[in-house]
Amino acid sequence: MSGPVDFTRRSMLTLSGLAAAGALAQGVLRPSPARSVGDTALPVPQLLEPRKGEILKLALRKGRHSFGAGKAVPTLGISGEYLSPVVRVRCDEDVAFEVRNQIGEVTSLHWHGLEIPSTVDGGPHNEIRPGDTWADTLPIRQPAATTWFHPHPHGATGRQVYGGLAGMMIIADGGDRERGLPSTYGVDDLPIILQDKRFDRTGAPVYNPGMMDRMHGFQGDVLLVNGVTDPVATVPAGFVRLRVLNGANARNFNLRLSDRRTFWSVAGDGGLLAKPIELASLLIAPGERYELLVDFSNGRPASLVNDPDPAHGDMGMTQQSGSTRLMDFRPNASRKADILRLPGALATLAEPDVKHAAAWRTFRLNAMGRNMGINGKPYDMDRLDFTAKLGATEIWEIISADMPHPFHVHGASFRILSSNGERPAAHQAGWKDVILVEEHAEILVRFNHPASAHHPFMYHCHILEHEDQGMMGQFAVA
Ligand code: C2O
Ligand code: CU
Ligand code: CU
Repeated sequence: MSGPVDFTRRSMLTLSGLAAAGALAQGVLRPSPARSVGDTALPVPQLLEPRKGEILKLALRKGRHSFGAGKAVPTLGISGEYLSPVVRVRCDEDVAFEVRNQIGEVTSLHWHGLEIPSTVDGGPHNEIRPGDTWADTLPIRQPAATTWFHPHPHGATGRQVYGGLAGMMIIADGGDRERGLPSTYGVDDLPIILQDKRFDRTGAPVYNPGMMDRMHGFQGDVLLVNGVTDPVATVPAGFVRLRVLNGANARNFNLRLSDRRTFWSVAGDGGLLAKPIELASLLIAPGERYELLVDFSNGRPASLVNDPDPAHGDMGMTQQSGSTRLMDFRPNASRKADILRLPGALATLAEPDVKHAAAWRTFRLNAMGRNMGINGKPYDMDRLDFTAKLGATEIWEIISADMPHPFHVHGASFRILSSNGERPAAHQAGWKDVILVEEHAEILVRFNHPASAHHPFMYHCHILEHEDQGMMGQFAVA
């Protein structure tokens, strides 16, 4: 299997293919010296940390970017060529921002995971026309977390995010040193943005969803980390924190380490877990974030590997059959590691209080047949689907009628009550804003931020082709 251009080739070498060649036993997953020539270092986005009174300025623009060893091709980027600088803010500050639209078409910029009033949420009702600048203030009042931002114009979200418009936001509370969590950005605290692409013969990304892609979501056959194929990160020989964001349009990633060492999840979408949860593998759906700790104190390198998606069944038309190396980690023993021990307690998480839930709602997600939408209805910008009570909680039952859907809610966080009839896994027991609903799930949603009927919050499937085709609804909070 060799790609049309050189840079696609390495990431398309699957482990199963290598195993068939008898190479696995010789440890080909370990970075070999031969690979070090021309290896791509993991791109670490610039860190933007607006000071008090400073305006956070972002420009959505056209760019040119090389996804690997190939030549630069046309892309989209936020204040850069592809993806965005990482924005780090404090958990209790007001952040003034300006978002300029220089892409030549209507867009918006949604702050995914921020618990803020709907007027600044950046959904389809916050349209930014070509040439315009959107300026307002984000009142950040929530626990430390890894969130992100991406366009949300109705019908074009998939194409614009795929083009490169997405970035990570870190909400920090200054307590990580005390907790014993790695927190030096770019050293032992790394943004890991996972995506996939299809490339044409010239090496340019292709986005042309056909009938099957519209049904199942648009997946690429080349996997990317921070916008490049198969990069290498040199890390201190201690604990390293990976802030993993699935920024793909439709693909679930099923992560593990090549030598099968375990790792720990310390945070989910909405912030820290009660304590580190040990994992052998992690399934992460589009829109989800997990903060992971990996122990490199033994100095041994390892690769981050993507295994086939267990949730996808036979459905994935473009699903790779084997495992793929996403990136390599090379510990550098001469670099002093800050964190050499696994931290203990991280946060207090109360049991979800279901007794005081104010309402029960059912959402049926359907991608097949004529009724792509939720409860049989496609999204309508002028239809309010319901109103939730400010300050209350509700139990939402979500049913995936045909295939797994990553369900997301704006302006509110939730706790998982059940997933396919089971209690949530420990690493999914904290606050979240995306849940991969394989068949059936129940969540307890908390509404702390107002939304008028004219500027409602969204709930939708985060497979962007489903969202763009109307698997989305909107609600007010009053
Ligand atoms: Cu990440 Cu409504 O989206
Ligand atoms: Cu969102
Ligand atoms: Cu979906």
